[in-house]
Amino acid sequence: MNLTLTTLPETIRWQDGALYLLDQTRLPLETVIEKQETVDQVWQSIKQLKVRGAPAIGVAGAYGLVLSVTDQTHLSYAAFLQELERQAAYLDSARPTAVNLKWALTRIVSKARELSGFDVPAIHQRLVAEAVQIHDEDRQLCRKIGEHGLALIKQDMGILTHCNAGSLATAELGTALAPMYLAHEQGIPFRVYADETRPLLQGSRLTSWELQQAGIDVTLICDNMAAYIMSQGLVDMVIVGTDRVAANGDVANKIGTLGVAILAHHFNLPFYVACPYSTIDFNTPDGKSIVIEERGETEVTHFGDRRTAPENIQYRNPAFDVTPHTLVTGLITDRGIIRPPYQENLQQFYGG
Ligand code: MRU
Repeated sequence: MNLTLTTLPETIRWQDGALYLLDQTRLPLETVIEKQETVDQVWQSIKQLKVRGAPAIGVAGAYGLVLSVTDQTHLSYAAFLQELERQAAYLDSARPTAVNLKWALTRIVSKARELSGFDVPAIHQRLVAEAVQIHDEDRQLCRKIGEHGLALIKQDMGILTHCNAGSLATAELGTALAPMYLAHEQGIPFRVYADETRPLLQGSRLTSWELQQAGIDVTLICDNMAAYIMSQGLVDMVIVGTDRVAANGDVANKIGTLGVAILAHHFNLPFYVACPYSTIDFNTPDGKSIVIEERGETEVTHFGDRRTAPENIQYRNPAFDVTPHTLVTGLITDRGIIRPPYQENLQQFYGG
């Protein structure tokens, strides 16, 4: 039962007061672990997707925030708190769609507010402990998601996933991939189709890599092959992750997820979305209110370093899309599988 510890990559490590990130932009060809020395470096790592996936950027953001004030413990409490809030806003500006980043930063700042009677070096120590707790908690949440989703995986099933909601996107095990890792541990045979996920290829570079490393039967397909593969009866279920679940159950996830959900509906296949509570945002009423990150030109006009589009072409590069809750069969969460009606049932599972 040690599969997760021995074969899954470690995305984020906090060791002796230093933050180390596995540079995911270089996978699967190179495994490079980069020490993060400054808050600017952490901001860049999040922006450039060296660390990516909603829960992972939350964890990295929390560590980045405590790093940003390591040299500020000589300040008065008020000045320290002000600096912490400034750095939290800065880190939050790296990527807007995944609510886990804001959630983790807010948790660190709230902890500092709670500790107003303590001296500043002691507060800093407690903030470090809080970041470590966010990291540990994510590991446990992913395992719980896996346990709740496990019952959905039946012998010889074909499961399609989009982007990477695996170990690399979290502290360990992932969200969408967690039930698959646990099913594999239990010896249940199944196969996975991993969409390559243009433009940044999280499916081919990351999902197919981490599943292959774990010994899971995975087949890589280009995004535009999903309909054909489904039409051949090879897919029984879709499981994806999410960057934000709105209060009505609409979900934002990697661009292309909406297309997969529409296909699943057409072929009458269950479409599940896996997430921890930190991805559920009751302050966002519906999918229309979710800010969708727009990224730069070269991700679309180039393939790797090579230009594949004409000079001066107009382009769009939304990094995420929103799938309406009407297309979601269930949300696999750390507390169980939430089914429609989402507005009511999300409240019942996680509200107030
Ligand atoms: O741009 P990315 O790679 O950060 O996008 C990641 C996704 O869309 C994931 O599916 C989502 O964050 C869930 S990760 C458990």
